Amino acid sequence: MFFTRKRTDGREGQKFCDATDLVDLHSHILPHIDDGSDSVGESLEMLRCSYAQGVGKIVATPHFYPNMTNPVDFLERRSRAVEALAAAVAERRALGEKIPNVYLGAEVAYFDGISRSAAVFDLCIQGTKLLLVEMPFERWSETNIGELISLKAKGFQPIVAHYDRYWSYQEKDLLDRLLESGIAIQLNAEAFLRFGTKRQALGMISAGAVSFLGSDCHNMTTRMPNLSSAVNAIEKSLGCGCVEELMADAAKELDAAEVIA
Ligand SMILES: [Fe+2]
Repeated sequence: MFFTRKRTDGREGQKFCDATDLVDLHSHILPHIDDGSDSVGESLEMLRCSYAQGVGKIVATPHFYPNMTNPVDFLERRSRAVEALAAAVAERRALGEKIPNVYLGAEVAYFDGISRSAAVFDLCIQGTKLLLVEMPFERWSETNIGELISLKAKGFQPIVAHYDRYWSYQEKDLLDRLLESGIAIQLNAEAFLRFGTKRQALGMISAGAVSFLGSDCHNMTTRMPNLSSAVNAIEKSLGCGCVEELMADAAKELDAAEVIA
């Protein structure tokens, strides 16, 4: 299911995404739950901004830190945030506003024992077994890697959140090991926008090592939705067909997911 298919098509520089084809797998658009959106109003602004960039599907992935909260409290707070956002989105749509479909997940901070935890069932993207995991910001141990592999063996689909934020710490062969084990990789849009990381990020896309992109947007000031900028950079270097394929694959993974707003 997760692949190392070479992605490039000779249509470099052409434009593919102009409507609602983009899938943003990583965002902090739910209000009042983490260090993301501060209000329902800001969440709506983030959604409008995403839609204007061509995002048709966006997954809300609030931080879940097992050392700071327990799953029951987190899920309760998340439900309240969803309720508030869904009501506001319904109101805006009734007025004719275009807003991306919102899906629900979490950005789960890695913990030892994650593969044995019953909590992960409720932290997957709702309706799927896709689990977005934020790994330690240091060189990963065999235990860390083993937990991801165990999650996969148990039928979950672990997705390493923003791999671009850890790759400098890791052994050179780690990416191959992850892909061989069926672990999926998500890159943040910012990886394609910085001189120091752009080349490596494009190389990973070209090698078929990336399954999902995310804006990891937190607000409308310092960490705004920015997926289209990354997509433009990919289209320019690797061709529009590359984005088309990446987004079609990502959308397919969300086929069974529940739209919550
Ligand atoms: Fe995040």
